Amino acid sequence: LTTYSYNISNQKVDCIFDATINQLENYAPANAVVIITDHHIAALYSQQLSAYRVITFVAGESNKTQSTVDQIIQQLILMEIDREALIVGVGGGVVTDIVGFVASIYKRGLRFGFIPTTILAMVDAAIGGKNGVNVGLYKNMVGTIVQPSFILFDYTFLQTLPEAEWRNGFAEIIKHACIRDAEMFSNLQQHQLIDYIKDAKLLTDIIQKNVAIKLEIVAQDTLEKKERLFLNFGHTVGHAIENSAQLKHGYAVAIGMAFACQLSEKIIDFNPNETAKVIQLLKQYQLPTTADLDVDMIINLVQADKKRTGKEIRFVLLSAIGDASIQAIPIETIRAQLIEISS
Ligand SMILES: NC(=O)c1ccc[n+]([C@@H]2O[C@H](COP(=O)([O-])OP(=O)(O)OC[C@H]3O[C@@H](n4cnc5c(N)ncnc54)[C@H](O)[C@@H]3O)[C@@H](O)[C@H]2O)c1
Repeated sequence: LTTYSYNISNQKVDCIFDATINQLENYAPANAVVIITDHHIAALYSQQLSAYRVITFVAGESNKTQSTVDQIIQQLILMEIDREALIVGVGGGVVTDIVGFVASIYKRGLRFGFIPTTILAMVDAAIGGKNGVNVGLYKNMVGTIVQPSFILFDYTFLQTLPEAEWRNGFAEIIKHACIRDAEMFSNLQQHQLIDYIKDAKLLTDIIQKNVAIKLEIVAQDTLEKKERLFLNFGHTVGHAIENSAQLKHGYAVAIGMAFACQLSEKIIDFNPNETAKVIQLLKQYQLPTTADLDVDMIINLVQADKKRTGKEIRFVLLSAIGDASIQAIPIETIRAQLIEISS
């Protein structure tokens, strides 16, 4: 068992690696724990969850809504859950986003932690305290920034993770490599997804590394004024196509990263050979790099992005692999580039 504790905005966040769900006992007795999860995890892991009270909602991004939040809160009230309880979100990023939000608003906030069960949630969604829900097609339009007390990494959950979800998570790993870590980028080039699925040591190493990258960035800039913006690499266009084109989050971000590299060539002389390397790596991990784009719809959604100010949007570009930079870019420049790549 390896535990790292981080301080983010004066709150201690424990990351417990190589753990099992039983380690919850270090945080609260089983009768004080309320697990909130989706129906896939509830069905697959009923035995592991049997010691706890469990609230279940229907899996899927389309249920990351205020209505699901309200249903969960109704059940918490029915169960007479008080402020001494510990709320634990067990699942992918949809679960951690919703549960962090519920726990931060129910009775004005309860202690909560996560057991992420997808690669994407382990390396990204469970970390950093951002949580919330979508409003129609607008991604993460409502939410809070409140940190979990702990994140427990129990890799046995990954045994049931479909391969498409492994790829989904590796998109965020490739993102971390692009913005922060050229060495990890070249390590990824030397492997295939199957290596990480089969080799537990390789997997735990890369997960711990990615957790460290994300936590370090979040600790520097919890409220997303500067460094944390880098984590949005690929996400401006990615978010716009995720719900409108019904793509998995990581797949949409992969397309967004390819687009951001091409824009970086135009705006800050990012080397086209480097764009080719990023696109090649995404393909190696069986991620999409292009899609049929509805430019007007994307622009409409980009206008509502939280990073927009007036006619410009703060956009994450690459100056080199491993090195990101933020530029205010006119929305019209983004439109022109979208038209160029989709024609
Ligand atoms: N808060 C953040 O900082 C942050 C960062 C990145 C992504 N996100 C959010 O995360 C969400 C995407 O997360 P995700 O990709 O984990 O999606 P998800 O939670 O929808 O999980 C994907 C699917 O896998 C299933 N699943 C989960 N774990 C499983 C397991 N161990 N075995 C079998 N099936 C399993 C789920 O039931 C679901 O059907 C998006 O809503 C995105 O906006 C948030």
